[in-house]
Amino acid sequence: MTIEIAIDGLSVTFREFRALKAVSIAVEKGESFGLVGESGSGKSTLLRAITGLAPSSGGSITVAGETLSGSRRSHAFRRAVQMVFQDPYASLHPRQTVDRQLVEPLAIHGIGDAETRILRALDEVGLGPSFRFRYPHQLSGGQRQRVAIARALIVEPEILLLDEPTSALDASVQAEVLNLLEEVRARRGLTYLMVSHDLGVVTHMCSRLAVMREGEVVEMLSAADLAAGRTVSDYTARLMVASKGFSREAAG
Ligand SMILES: Nc1ncnc2c1ncn2[C@@H]1O[C@H](COP(=O)(O)OP(=O)(O)OP(=O)(O)O)[C@@H](O)[C@H]1O
Ligand SMILES: [Mg+2]
Repeated sequence: MTIEIAIDGLSVTFREFRALKAVSIAVEKGESFGLVGESGSGKSTLLRAITGLAPSSGGSITVAGETLSGSRRSHAFRRAVQMVFQDPYASLHPRQTVDRQLVEPLAIHGIGDAETRILRALDEVGLGPSFRFRYPHQLSGGQRQRVAIARALIVEPEILLLDEPTSALDASVQAEVLNLLEEVRARRGLTYLMVSHDLGVVTHMCSRLAVMREGEVVEMLSAADLAAGRTVSDYTARLMVASKGFSREAAG
């Protein structure tokens, strides 16, 4: 097994505040790995540290064999690692058409053949060519998130960092977008590191997960163990109760 993302003893400190305290996780290539934990536990900070947006003050991050240092990331890294956020309305430019938002990453990364790639990207996320010249306000929440996913996929990444990618969506739309993400991962052999406060979502999508609390990983377990209630700490058990919609069937 190849380790695609290796985080070893990573610390992030904002002034005096220790947002991450020596966190270690290893995500295998092609795996979907979940991060759960209460608000403020450091989940987004971990994703941001990988992309260089949060300052690491100790430990190491190795992605696809390349050990990262400081906050600078290579051009190749910025293409290979794409992020999808919770709120597509905030992450899409309100005054740009879908077309513009898809052209931009191609231009940044010097990728040609925009016409074909845009149509293919829209098709891959289940949006037809008629969506190409629409503006974000002319799309539903689920359609907007599909555009955000298309924008991540259009540069042919290897890794997606997903921060609550469906928690702003209604339950039925959420399921559609999660299914889309899972199909894409399987077809393209992508590696996912996915944050969700919803343990049902993580159990459904991820093979393994880390439970975070106050900047530390307090438990590491497989989705199957979680669904079966095996080796679950009190904290994780409380998260399970707090997580609406968690059910053993979700692990299916
Ligand atoms: N730029 C920053 N400056 C100072 N403190 C920060 C900064 N970013 C995050 N923090 C703090 O670090 C802690 C972890 O934040 P983070 O956003 O990683 O939490 P989270 O687990 O993603 O929570 P949520 O589930 O609410 O999104 C919080 O206490 C937060 O206030
Ligand atoms: Mg967060």
